[in-house]
Amino acid sequence: MTSRRKLVVGNWKMHGSHKANAELLEGVLAARPFGADVAVCVPFPFLSETAVTLAASDIRWGAQDCSAHEQGAYTGEVSAAMLREFGCRWVIVGHSERRAYHGESDQLVADKAKIALAHGITPIVCVGETLAQREAGETAAVVKRQLSAVIHTLGHCVSEMVVAYEPVWAIGTGKTATPEQAQEVHALLRAQLLAATPRAGEMRLLYGGSVKADNAATLFAQPDIDGGLIGGAALKAADFAAICRAA
Ligand code: G3P
Repeated sequence: MTSRRKLVVGNWKMHGSHKANAELLEGVLAARPFGADVAVCVPFPFLSETAVTLAASDIRWGAQDCSAHEQGAYTGEVSAAMLREFGCRWVIVGHSERRAYHGESDQLVADKAKIALAHGITPIVCVGETLAQREAGETAAVVKRQLSAVIHTLGHCVSEMVVAYEPVWAIGTGKTATPEQAQEVHALLRAQLLAATPRAGEMRLLYGGSVKADNAATLFAQPDIDGGLIGGAALKAADFAAICRAA
């Protein structure tokens, strides 16, 4: 039996509009209460309205990325300090889409996690292998390497982050990792964290990749899966609410 409270985070990616967001958030708010911690990570321009809509609720909000720099001449970047001003509690860093399309390295991801923590924002650090890497038997080595950079950079603060295991081949494909496949990697990650911090047993490890209302409960029932990072299904209030209820 674990004392870890489940956490479900919606990653809206580059979706949304004033109208769609209002409907989505009102739908999620109306579906409460949930027995888990719940948050939504929204595109930067929507942080302000999300904060206003959710402020009086127990649903938190965050962003999908932050700069590794404090401030300065970094056109297009958004700093952790700015996110904090918008009340962000969470920030996703190292999502595979950012690693793949923006060339983010393990060290850059680790630096982003560090600066987020320095500003009181919990980083959700994403790790995960591609299909080719899984088929080559490299899953363990890949996620270990990705996590290792963060462990070394955060030092004793490592226990304050959340890790999300998102196999790239399961993202947006409808192909969910089986609960056993996901648990196997989560157990590896937990073991690696245990070697770094005595508080690894309290850390929340999320699974992401085609989580839906009908597979969430079995995934979340695994001993080392403490909730989910949800993409497509976070865009429909009924689906997201059902996943939150499954946690
Ligand atoms: O960060 C969440 C994500 O990458 C999973 O997306 O659409 O497969 O739930 P999806």
